[in-house]
Amino acid sequence: MQTLFLKVDPQRPNKKVIDIAASLIRNGEIVAFPTETVYGVGADAMNEKAVKGVFAAKRRRMDNPLLVHVDSWEQASNLITEVPDEVLLLVEEFWPGPLTFIARSREEVPTMVRAGLPTVGLRMPDHPVALALINAAGRPIAATSANTSGRPSPTTAEHVKADLNSRIGAVVDAGDTGWGIESTILDVSQTPFKILRPGALSWERLEKVIPGLISEPTGAQKWRRITPHYQPTVQIVPVKYGDQIAEAARKEVLKGRRTGVVLVSEQELPISLDFVRVIRGGPQEYARVLFDIFRGADQNRLECLFMEMPVEQGLG
Ligand code: TXA
Ligand code: MG
Repeated sequence: MQTLFLKVDPQRPNKKVIDIAASLIRNGEIVAFPTETVYGVGADAMNEKAVKGVFAAKRRRMDNPLLVHVDSWEQASNLITEVPDEVLLLVEEFWPGPLTFIARSREEVPTMVRAGLPTVGLRMPDHPVALALINAAGRPIAATSANTSGRPSPTTAEHVKADLNSRIGAVVDAGDTGWGIESTILDVSQTPFKILRPGALSWERLEKVIPGLISEPTGAQKWRRITPHYQPTVQIVPVKYGDQIAEAARKEVLKGRRTGVVLVSEQELPISLDFVRVIRGGPQEYARVLFDIFRGADQNRLECLFMEMPVEQGLG
């Protein structure tokens, strides 16, 4: 299959181009598109056969559900049973934006989308291109990050091409995505609400809107992951913010391993390494470049990558 690459302006997407992509969706084909977090790949959420194609294209296990991308809360609410009022407060504050709700699904949502679960994930992306596409398609789009399963999420159309070229109908290319990491997933089908996946929107920001209603996070390792996620091939060694990396990196170099570092604090590096990235823009910039670093590390055939962590708070 030949994949169409359609370039659009991220702020004011050309209507003709969006219409091409939208008619592909309506015809049951699969399209990758930018969101404010990462690129997604999706199909008509109400068309089981099309949805099946999304799983096939990214070689995703069928027991791992997709998120339904909508262009309004109204469209979302047609897919779920009633939710607590607090959800509406969150919608008002954060939609469109990187907050995904897991809620009780209505039967109309194909079970394949939700992998047989009684719940469905709903997301309204804050990206003019994604919103225009959903709107022009006239139906919700079941989508997932546009990487091959097991690979880091794509933050550029080139990343999508590397993973999905000739396996999908089209890629709508609007340049880099904004956040660079995925949406925060909040389960509102039970109380207290629970963050299932930390993402672009921090617990602190959610908590401000509905104090005391979301269980408090307990540290990065403790996040419940629904399925094992992407990981680069390179061995990642997390290093606490401010801890010196040079000595440990030197030991790996002496063992003959291809070694890299990612730094956030000012540090001397009196050694020659295969990969060095310095992140100066704080956690927001860290999030934006994280998956590109993972892909770059693999491309450089690194064996060991020391990553200085941001302070573990908020987006960090
Ligand atoms: O920012 C994002 O959320 C991106 C963009 C493209 O929208 N999407 C994304 O999709 O990250 P994906 O499929 O890579 O990750 C969605 C996660 C998966 O771990 C999936 O298991 C989980 O959401 N999920 C989907 N539906 C669920 C449900 N009903 N209950 C629990 N987890 C669910
Ligand atoms: Mg993903």
